[in-house]
This record gives sequence, C-alpha cells and structure tokens, in this order.
Amino acid sequence: MGRIAYVNGRFVPQGEAAVHIEDRGYQLADAVYEVWALFDGKLADAEGHFARLERSLAELKIPMPMSRAALTVVLKEAVRRNRVREGLVYLQVGRGVAPRDHAFPIDPVEPSIVVTVKAVDRAAAEARAAKGVGVITTPENRWGRCDIKTVGLLPNALAKQAARERGAVEAWFVDELGFVTEGASSNAWIVDRDGILRTRDTNANILRGVTRLTLLDVIREDGLKVEERPFTPEEAKSAREAFITGAGTLVLPVVSVDGDPVGDGAVGPVASRLRRLYIERARATAI
Ligand code: PDD
Repeated sequence: MGRIAYVNGRFVPQGEAAVHIEDRGYQLADAVYEVWALFDGKLADAEGHFARLERSLAELKIPMPMSRAALTVVLKEAVRRNRVREGLVYLQVGRGVAPRDHAFPIDPVEPSIVVTVKAVDRAAAEARAAKGVGVITTPENRWGRCDIKTVGLLPNALAKQAARERGAVEAWFVDELGFVTEGASSNAWIVDRDGILRTRDTNANILRGVTRLTLLDVIREDGLKVEERPFTPEEAKSAREAFITGAGTLVLPVVSVDGDPVGDGAVGPVASRLRRLYIERARATAI
C-alpha cells in the first residue's frame, strides 16, 4: 500500500501530493514542524509536542491552523490511513501561499499544513541502540532562535551529512566557548565522571526537546542525579556514558565522539535503562 499524506485539507497519495511553488515554507523556510513518535498507532508525548507547536507558531505570528482537538483528529486519521503502528508522524505548518516577498503577506492567508507518516522498524532500532552510535562535533553555525522548531534546517542537514560521511549518526554543535549545544536533530547528554546526568539548559540557543523534558521527569522519579549544565566534547569523551534524545532516536546511547571512545567505548547501564524507562512511559501515556 502506498503512503498517504494530508495536504491542506485533503488526504492524497503521497506520490501525487504537492504544495504551491509560492508556499512560503518552500521559498523562505517560513514554516514550523513537529515530529511525534508513534507507539502502537498512538502519539507519544502528545501534549508536549502540541504545546511546542503552539509556541513556535506564536513566536512567528502564524495562527494555529485548527484547534488542538481537530489537529489530533487529522494526525490520527493520517496514521490510520497509513496503517502504521510503530513509526513517526511529521506535521508542518507554514505561513501559507503568497507572491514572493520577504515581509509577511498584507492580506492574511491560510496557513499551509502537511502531515506525513512513516513506519519505523523497532527491532532494528533496538539493535542499533544495543550497539550504540558515534557522533561528530562541528562548530555551531545556526541562527539565534533554535528554540523555534522551524524547517530552516540547512546547517542541521549539512552537519548530519558530515556525520554520515564520517561513519557517525549525529553531529553535535559546539558553541564559541567550547560547549556542546545540541545535536542536528537531538539533544545531547552525558553521565559524567561523578555519575551525574548532564544536559544543556534551555536558556541556551537550543530546541526545548520534548523527549528531553519527559526524560528529566523519568530521571527524577528514578532518583538519579541530574544537572542542566553544558559539557565539552572532551568531557563527553571522559564521561562514563553519553546519549542523545529525540522523537526519532528516543534515548540512543553514544559510544564515540569524533572517533574517540566515550568512557570504555561500550553502551553503559544508565543510557540503556533510561531508554527502556522512557519507552515504557511513552507507550503507556501515548494517545
Ligand atoms: N528533531 N534538537 C533538534 C535540533 C531537533 O531537531 C530535535 C528533534 C531535538 C529533539 O526534540 P524532541 O525530543 O522534541 O524530538 C533536539 C526531530 C525529531 C526531527 O527533526 O526529525
């Protein structure tokens, strides 16, 4: 069965789905997006992703295209039509279509909406998590509003490609003070030499990861020590463990940074346990 996309009010075969050539998302990256993990056909961390969507839209003065309840119906219908149980849902909301001009259209236009659904092979994902992955580092070169989840992802795409060319799966951006900000599509964490979990605070220019936020809850309930404090790539290498979080990766152990091993170079117990606890929580609370 072919994939089905939702585009501006209609469900269409994905191969035939199209947007207008003057869609501002296409021409100016004037659009935001969200990605939900799907467990058993249900949206994980639904509330957190909706809240961030509303915030991203508000920051850009794009109206919410429909109520949360209506949007939930659209997302769930897209999932149903694609018959995906384990996977990802992608939602993009843009300012809309207007003759090309950098400033906003004077007469309000309808926001554009696209929804796509993709299946994920959970067994393959678990196998990858059991082995751990490598990351590379790259100088931070993004704009100053990485808290807004826009589709302006060229630096992220280039960083990810550089990672792939070096046999790694993620790139960590490093700021001018030498601290890791976040990954190209994930938040970055370590278990430092004292056994304390560390991830960058969200006053920094990073995305406020929804998986990150849920995991902070899981960690506190589990009684582990956690600090929202930045770390350097060197600290990551000498840490006990490292991992990344995101709707696509969930909690994914990192075993090397720029080719050097993290700790003893093996997947550690904390990251593995947190992956399990996060997935249990996400499955149980998915809607
Ligand atoms: N990326 N940081 C960046 C730059 C991201 O793009 C993402 C998510 C995250 C993690 O956020 P969350 O836990 O809310 O997914 C952090 C999505 C999955 C993507 O671009 O596909």
